[in-house]
Amino acid sequence: MADGTDTKSSNQMWGGRFASGPAAIMEEINASIGFDKKLFAQDIRGSIAHATMLAHQGIISAEDKDKIVHGLNTILSEIESGNFEFSRSLEDIHMNVESRLATLIGPAAGRLHTARSRNDQVALDFRLWVKEELQKCEQALTGLIAAFLDRAEEHADTVMPGFTHLQTAQPVTFGHHCMAYVEMFGRDRSRVRHAIEHMDESPIGAAALAGTGFPIDRHMTAKALGFREPTRNSIDTVSDRDFAIEFLSIAAIAGMHLSRLAEEIVIWSTPQFGFVRLSDAFSTGSSIMPQKKNPDAAELVRAKTGRINGSLVALLTIMKGLPLAYSKDMQEDKEQVFDAAESLELAIAAMTGMVRDMTINTARMKAAAGSGYSTATDLADWLVREAGLPFRDAHHVTGRAVALAESKSCDLAELSLEELQAINPAITAKIFDVLTVEASVASRKSFGGTAPSEVRKQIAYWRARN
Ligand code: ARG
Repeated sequence: MADGTDTKSSNQMWGGRFASGPAAIMEEINASIGFDKKLFAQDIRGSIAHATMLAHQGIISAEDKDKIVHGLNTILSEIESGNFEFSRSLEDIHMNVESRLATLIGPAAGRLHTARSRNDQVALDFRLWVKEELQKCEQALTGLIAAFLDRAEEHADTVMPGFTHLQTAQPVTFGHHCMAYVEMFGRDRSRVRHAIEHMDESPIGAAALAGTGFPIDRHMTAKALGFREPTRNSIDTVSDRDFAIEFLSIAAIAGMHLSRLAEEIVIWSTPQFGFVRLSDAFSTGSSIMPQKKNPDAAELVRAKTGRINGSLVALLTIMKGLPLAYSKDMQEDKEQVFDAAESLELAIAAMTGMVRDMTINTARMKAAAGSGYSTATDLADWLVREAGLPFRDAHHVTGRAVALAESKSCDLAELSLEELQAINPAITAKIFDVLTVEASVASRKSFGGTAPSEVRKQIAYWRARN
């Protein structure tokens, strides 16, 4: 049985009423050990808490509990050191551990499953795993936010073109653009924190679905396992995978944010834009074109979004229409979450590295910020403020100035005062104070605006919260 190929004898864990073992194909479709062995540490931690509670409540003896705990710790080190033989015929991590425990400590092992079912056991293991993963994500997002805060501080005064429709719109600062990502990843992190709060309830003790007649103490196990409290409804407990779906939803939203950043890095690092240069550590060369430096990591981050979205849709679809309480369909939850978690962790780490390492070409950004008549709105605003024109009229006057500059292939600031006054006589030489990109960004002091003074306030706000 140890090699997982013996299907003749019935299952030693639940085979009492079975005359023979499963067909090979049954074993193959049924087994989850190939992926749920990832839950070994959570499974053992849960079993130790359960056995300790059983002894405390007088449901098993203290001697049996000691043997069980000792055996479980032995199994933990066997698995951690790679000296554990997982068996497919034992289906999953729960039965692999319990079967090994029987070999190690004998009949006492059989008492561990008192007042418990694999249904609440798997709900516990998986919840513990997802909770730890969310905690890792929280940390990783904090690192990414810190990277952006540093770049924003460094470039609070660096002007670049701001875009709408990917067309030059108005000058902004690179610091301000970085802070837009801080807001996005800050929201992701608060979603992560909410999800941890939301799922912080212990499933163990719900048993198969109806609870148990044994005098267990679910508050004790909840506390031992670091949960706020036990879940309140045993049926819901074994049929709920919301915590996994919430994780995937959060991952999908964060992945979408990461893909937008990835796309901007891809665009900015083209020779045509030349806004940033990726470090050698985060780019690759071409095997045929020696001049190339490709943003592969950014492209892969952009693509990981597809996998994460796929996992979210997969698990929503797995759970859709399932009658209460547990159904084996739910075993398909884990691979989706494991895969998405790996993708998300990698994507955040790669982005943090790229953001920290990339070189910002401030000259290119500044040149681009001034092209495309990006200060046209400043001209119109000036006409409203200084000459008392209604904004619509000011918009029209500015349009004529842009058309003139375009016909002369020059910038707005390069038009002469006479030329501007010919369009509207109210214009004075003071207009030239607002036509530079620096003056434009400095003037946008509205709360949350792009003025360096405002950006520095935003940075201080986030520094205090990161
Ligand atoms: N391997 C199963 C899963 O991942 C564990 C729960 C099995 N429960 C059962 N009643 N067969 O969902």
